[in-house]
Amino acid sequence: MTMIDLILRNARLAGQQALTDLYIDDGMITAIGGGPGQPGPAQPGTAPPGTAQPGTAQPGFGDGSDAAAAQTIDLGGRLVTPPLVEPHIHLDAVLTVGQPRPNDSGSLFEGIAIWADRVAGLSYADVQSRVRQVLRWQLACGVQHVRSHVDVCDPGLTALRALIDLREEVRGMLDLQLVAFPQQGIFGFDGGVELMRRAAALGADVIGGIPHYELTREDGVESVKFALALAQDHGLAVDIHCDETDDDHSRFVEVMAAETIKRGMSGKVTASHTTAMHSYNGAYAYRVISNIARAGLHMVTNPLDNSVLQGRFDTGPVRRGLTRVKQLQEAGVNVCVGHDSVMDPWYPLGYGDPLQAAFVLVHLGQMSGDAELRRLIEMITVNPAAALGIADYGLRPGGSADLVVFDAPSEADALRLIAPRTLVLRRGKVVARATPARHTVTWLGAEEPVTFLRR
Ligand code: FE2
Repeated sequence: MTMIDLILRNARLAGQQALTDLYIDDGMITAIGGGPGQPGPAQPGTAPPGTAQPGTAQPGFGDGSDAAAAQTIDLGGRLVTPPLVEPHIHLDAVLTVGQPRPNDSGSLFEGIAIWADRVAGLSYADVQSRVRQVLRWQLACGVQHVRSHVDVCDPGLTALRALIDLREEVRGMLDLQLVAFPQQGIFGFDGGVELMRRAAALGADVIGGIPHYELTREDGVESVKFALALAQDHGLAVDIHCDETDDDHSRFVEVMAAETIKRGMSGKVTASHTTAMHSYNGAYAYRVISNIARAGLHMVTNPLDNSVLQGRFDTGPVRRGLTRVKQLQEAGVNVCVGHDSVMDPWYPLGYGDPLQAAFVLVHLGQMSGDAELRRLIEMITVNPAAALGIADYGLRPGGSADLVVFDAPSEADALRLIAPRTLVLRRGKVVARATPARHTVTWLGAEEPVTFLRR
């Protein structure tokens, strides 16, 4: 009999009904399976997760996993997924809400003005301390891969330097990708071109852009071409803030698709936001979505920020501020959910949980269908993993033991409850755990426990 490090019993893997066991040793998943002789499925919500039971593993379950374990944890039927993946966040701006003043209108433009003042006082230590706090929040939510845009419209590249060093510091817990993001534009900001080149040379993983914010349509087109060329020269990926406006004449995603096709960069290019697409006429939207699919672009929608920032010039009906998620998916395009902001001048709320963003997309994207709820979990796991080009991702024998346990038995319940993550494993080690609050009510004179799961 083999002695291994850990067995997770009674896991419900995403997309599957039957419970199963995960066998983990030396940081890897050695086997997945359950079978005859397996203890009966525990009722979801009843077994305390993370309760170690040394030496209680029963060997000989299906799948050839003849193993005992130093530690066994009964997950009680809880949902288990690979790590959550955050494809779009602005870490350099996190936790700056109210600094140096609150955004009274809540608008994008007041936010940009406030950020311009705040960024003048940015320091290396200031960036690192704020980002460390949010990375801890993200890890507690099960996020182990993060792509962050970093404003490089700063001659000192202070935020980028701070984050490049932090990328090394956190490598054992989270993988961080940094996007050289020209918040003020590449051609519309004095020295923008040179700053982008310096950012690429300094160690950015991804080249960004903001074509709809350039001074002219022509500059916007050139900025997309510049970004893809710079990325190709350095062997980097591309992730562009594209058409983040309600202006239906903002059509830079078509340029992104065309350049990706011409340069043979399929799979390496992501278009973020693309909110103007919701206002395109149907004929144009059909054509551009076809080209996006042909180009193999990845798309990121950011329902938290864009639901409050878009439609600000509408007097009614007010547009919802999202890209065309369902149409893109129907065309076979990889669409991901991003968080975008955590307590900054543009969005005052959030704690870095992708599940919150997905919950909002259920409503604003009208994705409440049965299969759509499962798809939303994919949009914060496997879909962004593909967009970020993450190797060795997913729960499979021989794969790294990186995973997340939700305090819920299904994808729908995870979303419904924005369920706490009770256990997060990285390379087989527990890197985050939570004991969810337990509720009681006084019901007809007696205090009783309450679970928000259906009995
Ligand atoms: Fe963004």
